[in-house]
Amino acid sequence: MTPWDPPGVFLCCWGLLFLVLAPLRCHLCPVPCECSEPARTVKCVQKELTSVPVGIPTYTRNLFITGNQIARVGSRDLRGLSNLVTLSLANNRINTVESQAFSTLQTLRYLDLSHNQLTTIHPDAFNVRNNSIQELNLSHSLYNSSAILSLAAVLAQGGFQNLSRLELTSNQIVYLPLGMLSGLTKLEHLDLRNNSLVDIKNSTFAGLDLKYLDLTMNALKTLRSEALTILGRQLRLHLFLKGNPFVCDCDLEDLVSWLNQSQQVGDVEKLACAFPRDLKNTSLVELAGPDLECHFSQHGENALQTSYVALGMVLGVIGIIFLLVLYLNRKGIKTWMNAMRDACHNLMDEYHYRYEIDSDHHITQVSALDI
Ligand SMILES: *[C@@H]1O[C@H](CO)[C@@H](O)[C@H](O)[C@H]1NC(C)=O
Ligand SMILES: *[C@@H]1O[C@H](CO)[C@@H](O)[C@H](O)[C@H]1NC(C)=O
Ligand SMILES: *[C@@H]1O[C@H](CO)[C@@H](O)[C@H](O)[C@H]1NC(C)=O
Ligand SMILES: *[C@@H]1O[C@H](CO)[C@@H](O)[C@H](O)[C@H]1NC(C)=O
Ligand SMILES: *[C@@H]1O[C@H](CO)[C@@H](O)[C@H](O)[C@H]1NC(C)=O
Ligand SMILES: *[C@@H]1O[C@H](CO)[C@@H](O)[C@H](O)[C@H]1NC(C)=O
Ligand SMILES: *[C@@H]1O[C@H](CO)[C@@H](O)[C@H](O)[C@H]1NC(C)=O
Ligand SMILES: *[C@@H]1O[C@H](CO)[C@@H](O)[C@H](O)[C@H]1NC(C)=O
Repeated sequence: MTPWDPPGVFLCCWGLLFLVLAPLRCHLCPVPCECSEPARTVKCVQKELTSVPVGIPTYTRNLFITGNQIARVGSRDLRGLSNLVTLSLANNRINTVESQAFSTLQTLRYLDLSHNQLTTIHPDAFNVRNNSIQELNLSHSLYNSSAILSLAAVLAQGGFQNLSRLELTSNQIVYLPLGMLSGLTKLEHLDLRNNSLVDIKNSTFAGLDLKYLDLTMNALKTLRSEALTILGRQLRLHLFLKGNPFVCDCDLEDLVSWLNQSQQVGDVEKLACAFPRDLKNTSLVELAGPDLECHFSQHGENALQTSYVALGMVLGVIGIIFLLVLYLNRKGIKTWMNAMRDACHNLMDEYHYRYEIDSDHHITQVSALDI
């Protein structure tokens, strides 16, 4: 074949065209977004997007699709973005994360899903065996308890081996499902600020080695000794607890004495009773005197004893009045008793009489008895 053979020229031209266009294709940027190849960064911020845009360049390491109206992250939305390290989908309306949505992102380290309305996270949304995510931000993003349950199921699969920071603030979480955190062996920083946690079980943070745990602004009335034991074992831990409605009764004793000897609570000076009313705002540290042990429930017992004494006195007075009345009426009573005796006598006589009439042959015996 000669070089000028028409089909050859045709192929060659197509080849050249492809060579010219291929890099161009990589430089393309989805219409509403801003792309910077030197910074390997793509931003689609506040563009009223309703889905993840198509054609995000493969060089992208940092992707910000924030402040839009995206409702779901689909299985194919982020396919092929194999260089992604930072991904923020914050401030959208994401309610569903579909199967495989993030599972192909092998180098993803920072994932921000904060300020969304999640109800469903598919169990296979992440690489279930071992994913590379180190920081996961789910603040203000779990819409209801369905979301917490599906998150717990995802985390419990054990794929988050490198997760060191988990943000779960402002999610109205009432309890953390059993085993939710137990697979997160590298977790160091856990932020549960501004939720509605009512209780910390001994299993909740068991097996972790946290450096930072924020439980401020929750609904904790106390921390029981089992939970304190688990937390006490985490030697690097800085714990924050202010803004909880501590109830200063006997159930607080373990916490108060733990606070007295633990160095782990960063805001210990700011912890205060919310109940009972007469102790409101009293610092928990001020309660930590030896003679304050169970002070408030003893107070209750004393009140009970006082009321028993009062009852006894009232009964005593009533008794004395009764005896006095009897004494003052002694003459009347004597007359009354005589009357009663006479009445009985009459009755007995009557019986006696009837008996004699009924059986004559008993008369002698009865007479003998009478004598
Ligand atoms: C974890 O994933 C990496 C690749 O991302 C792989 O090389 C490694 O073998 C995996 N480890 C386990 C325990 O599956
Ligand atoms: C987890 O972190 C270790 C150490 O930083 C790293 O070697 C490993 O590749 C990471 N795992 C994954 C799945 O990225
Ligand atoms: C997580 O998201 C919240 C809310 O958007 C933000 O305030 C916080 O700084 C984020 N945390 C990290 C570590 O990016
Ligand atoms: C959570 O919200 C979704 C969507 O509104 C709803 O389908 C689901 O039933 C809710 N779950 C619970 C436990 O209320
Ligand atoms: C606490 O969380 C609620 C929603 O759960 C949110 O409306 C409120 O703004 C948050 N407060 C703070 C101080 O973050
Ligand atoms: C948790 O506490 C219960 C009693 O409240 C106890 O029976 C159980 O063994 C404890 N579990 C751990 C892991 O400490
Ligand atoms: C308790 O403290 C809060 C905030 O520090 C304050 O607003 C409130 O008036 C205090 N209540 C009492 C009874 O001291
Ligand atoms: C607090 O600790 C001190 C010594 O560190 C001890 O003398 C005191 O009795 C403790 N108070 C309580 C309530 O445990």
